Amino acid sequence: MKKISILLCLSLLMGACSQKKKENQDAEMNRFIGSLLKQMTLEEKIGQLNLPVAGDITTGQAENSDVAKKIKEGKVGGLFNIKGSEKIREVQRLAVEESRLKIPLLFGMDVIHGYETVFPIPLGLACSWDMQAIEQSARIAAIEASADGICWTFSPMVDLCRDARWGRIAEGNGEDPFLGGEIAKAMVRGYQGNDLTQNNTIMACVKHFALYGASESGRDYNTVDMSRVRMFNEYLWPYHAAVEAGAGSIMASFNEIDGIPATANRWLLTDVLRKQWGFNGFVVSDYTGVSEMIDHGIGDLKTVSAKALNAGLDMDMVSEGLPATLSESLEEGQVTEAQIDAACRRILEAKYKLGLFSDPYKYCDQKRAGSEIYTKEHRTIARKIAAESFVLLKDDKQILPLKKQGTIALIGPLADSGANMAGTWSVATKLDRIPGLLEGMKEVVGDKVRILYAKGSNLTEDAELEKRSTVFGRDLKRDERPEQVIINEAVQTARNADVIIAALGESSEMSGESSSRTDIKIPETQRKLLKALVQTGKPVVLVLFTGRPLALVWENENVPAILNTWFGGSEAAYAIADVLFGDVNPSGKLTASFPQNIGQIPIFYNHKNTGRPLAEGKWFQKFRSNYLDVSNEPLYPFGYGLSYTTFNYGAIRLSSDSFNANGELTASVVVTNTGERAGKEIIQLYIRDLVGSITRPVKELKGFEKISLEPGESKTVTFTITPELLRFYNNDLKYDYEPGDFVLMIGSNSRDVQTASFSLQ
Ligand code: BGC
Repeated sequence: MKKISILLCLSLLMGACSQKKKENQDAEMNRFIGSLLKQMTLEEKIGQLNLPVAGDITTGQAENSDVAKKIKEGKVGGLFNIKGSEKIREVQRLAVEESRLKIPLLFGMDVIHGYETVFPIPLGLACSWDMQAIEQSARIAAIEASADGICWTFSPMVDLCRDARWGRIAEGNGEDPFLGGEIAKAMVRGYQGNDLTQNNTIMACVKHFALYGASESGRDYNTVDMSRVRMFNEYLWPYHAAVEAGAGSIMASFNEIDGIPATANRWLLTDVLRKQWGFNGFVVSDYTGVSEMIDHGIGDLKTVSAKALNAGLDMDMVSEGLPATLSESLEEGQVTEAQIDAACRRILEAKYKLGLFSDPYKYCDQKRAGSEIYTKEHRTIARKIAAESFVLLKDDKQILPLKKQGTIALIGPLADSGANMAGTWSVATKLDRIPGLLEGMKEVVGDKVRILYAKGSNLTEDAELEKRSTVFGRDLKRDERPEQVIINEAVQTARNADVIIAALGESSEMSGESSSRTDIKIPETQRKLLKALVQTGKPVVLVLFTGRPLALVWENENVPAILNTWFGGSEAAYAIADVLFGDVNPSGKLTASFPQNIGQIPIFYNHKNTGRPLAEGKWFQKFRSNYLDVSNEPLYPFGYGLSYTTFNYGAIRLSSDSFNANGELTASVVVTNTGERAGKEIIQLYIRDLVGSITRPVKELKGFEKISLEPGESKTVTFTITPELLRFYNNDLKYDYEPGDFVLMIGSNSRDVQTASFSLQ
């Protein structure tokens, strides 16, 4: 007892000490920045709010460019997407040696899922449900980026999305707020670590604030219109989680909210973000987000720039609207000097927190650049994490895992393209050294397996569509021969094999920014190929590449094995081979529902019940909420994914069936590996609030745990249910729980669950 109280005193003391230390550091920062601000001219203050394109600085001599001139005049706060520590040092030198006040620049980059070592696209990474792995991927990205001069990443992207048409669903974590929030926190921890003054941590920028993933009809940059109840209970959740984890900056989104573009939305950027959530970092616009408000129709450049500053925007990416117009707006009384000071202060604070005033070259260490990027160690970890992101959608006849013997025909337009493995938004990597599946597979199986290859089809029949879908160095070397000739050749090749692996789906640039689709099936020419391969009667494994949920009804009915590999990053080829040949047992689970067809979109597991739900077991009833032609069910639900082994779930055991506001209860299940291989299972907890002051979703994810089990092994997984877990935003946007009855569900995905009931008194 005595020992415990001494420990308690010690930890309180340590807490008080670190609190004191933080207060001293903040006071020191305030003094430093206060005195710097006093020396700054209005023009220099406004200059800090400017994040222009690097322009010819990236290609030509830094010294002579237009941007260089501005840097020397103190008219630039930072630059982005410049690669290379030497280059960045050269540009930083202009700021700290040739500008009047020697204020260092921020160097940002879209380090979205890795730097040169590339991890799976975020939607894939999310399917690992492994917060340690996700944090580690961000940590490695930060180590590599910081070794190369970067101190600020435009990540994590935490836009919740339930519309597979939207190409940027690839960049987010899927459809669930709770999981999205956990991932957001892990990413921020990974990038920023505990101490931003270290030279291997970088500042996170949470984007795109807010609701960007809900753009109407899945068309990029489109309008968003949403109730506040839905915002707070669902879409805003992950951004809030990232802010609570201490993210240093946030990016305003392109879309409007309540009729006002996010970039100039005071309610969003000040009332919610700063006042309600206590965010004290800085807000940057998205690329030309300020000037785009002219097209949104809320004013000319001067007006929209003033509106943005008034709303709480601090930095203008690319538009140069704030630097061009704020002095005039100040003279006219449209903005105040205090507002300009506040924005400038926040940017200077970010630079201070990063330690750039103490050492502006701290990220420009050639030695680190030479030894800490794309290392063997990082690549080994990336290979492991890639395998964790794959989702086994089907393996009916236990074709998988394959034996390392015999002859395999590897067929498909994506079978031999290293450049497409990295996935969208992998700007820093070197595409030409990434192995394609053919090369990776050969390396993994050595001479044990004979591998035959044929392309089999182009990506799409439409050459123009293929061109648009293979930009940024992702060319798939179009085969100009007639479709049938290419297919026949592949079928001939396939006939000589024991097993066919069809590497099909989307190219990496078929998802991502400005890559929305109105048809989310595998492109028709590839489906014709797949049908021809299935008709050979040989066992076919579909290795799917995609940046979004696809509609795969035919494939699900006709192809015995489907492994969804998303875009697994620079080591994807090896990771796919690891899983195909059983060196790794797949364990990923979907974080976005796969619809049966595009007409079901938006489709998500945590929907409301409506006043006319279907009766249990029915898929159509007249005058009920359903469709005439297909059921309401997705093809593969949220949380779904198979393994090479099987798991059994014991009955749910509750510690009690009710608790009060000061109490809690636990729910446990025993999970057993009933198969013959070791494997990992993601156990999911869902809760339904049966009666509320507002309608509540049919289920909501409230917990999950990923466990490893040897064959025959059992583990007990226990979730603790607290009143905190049951809170939601009611119609007055008050965040609270309501006493009543709840259904608790535990299972291996959002559809296949067991239930138990409890009440909160
Ligand atoms: C994207 C952002 C990105 C920015 C800078 C924009 O087009 O929406 O996600 O960070 O460009 O490259």
